[in-house]
Amino acid sequence: MILQGRVAIVTGAGSGIGRAGAIAMAREGAAVVVADRDAVAGEATARTIIKGSGRARAIATDVAEPAALERLVQGAIEAYGRIDILHSHAGIQVEGPLTAVDPAGMEASWQVNVAAHFRLMRLVMPHMQTAGRGSIIVTSSNSGVFYDHEMIAYATSKHAAVAMVKQVAIDYGKYGVRVNALCPGWVDTPFNDAFTRQMGGREALLEYVRQKIPLGRFATVEEIAESILFLASDRSSFMTGHALVIDGGECIA
Ligand SMILES: NC(=O)c1ccc[n+]([C@@H]2O[C@H](COP(=O)([O-])OP(=O)(O)OC[C@H]3O[C@@H](n4cnc5c(N)ncnc54)[C@H](O)[C@@H]3O)[C@@H](O)[C@H]2O)c1
Repeated sequence: MILQGRVAIVTGAGSGIGRAGAIAMAREGAAVVVADRDAVAGEATARTIIKGSGRARAIATDVAEPAALERLVQGAIEAYGRIDILHSHAGIQVEGPLTAVDPAGMEASWQVNVAAHFRLMRLVMPHMQTAGRGSIIVTSSNSGVFYDHEMIAYATSKHAAVAMVKQVAIDYGKYGVRVNALCPGWVDTPFNDAFTRQMGGREALLEYVRQKIPLGRFATVEEIAESILFLASDRSSFMTGHALVIDGGECIA
């Protein structure tokens, strides 16, 4: 097991990619602190891990609340005594071009997609520095490495997340802490529900994805979990400051 004895915090772990990554890390031996603002969903992920003989506990956390992030890190230390892995995953998508996105939408994108990662990294870093090692994964998006239409709040905040990851990677490499960005493309999760409605339903979305993605399909959450395991574990031991794009070729097409 490639994460035996490690302790991981995963935000947005009540659904989709965060949930799949949390379950995969637990399967590989990590104790996982499941953080989601949806307390019921977070508890369900933790229960699934425990049923599979893994170690987990859920701490209801809205990453947009600074005090909740402090409680999360404190709770992880109280439960397991250390933090080896942070997957700061929760994010939001506010769609639209410049004149359609109101300042509140831009501000919310900044708070969740950038500031929450900043705050959480600040809170876990002293523990990782003391241990002399750690792996931080910040979920950006392939929208953090290329541009799409009418996505000013999402593209700006996701690019900022990649920039922040690279800066932190440079500054904290000397402490043995690696920091990388996870940049998925289209992954089949409820995150795309709003866009599905906007497209006119599931079939229209599937056709869009078939046309737009060189591999012609969505990723599954399990495929993204493989990249999470890679970044979290020593399999990527000489990799830091990288934006790992897993998007079926979309951003190069
Ligand atoms: N699904 C995709 O196609 C895709 C592509 C690229 C990037 N992403 C990124 O992945 C993340 C979304 O993950 P998903 O696709 O598995 O979505 P999802 O909707 O399946 O799960 C998101 C989870 O995050 C939780 N959450 C939302 N806001 C939160 C907050 N403020 N605090 C704590 N938890 C919160 C939700 O309750 C939910 O359980 C975002 O960061 C998004 O930018 C998704």
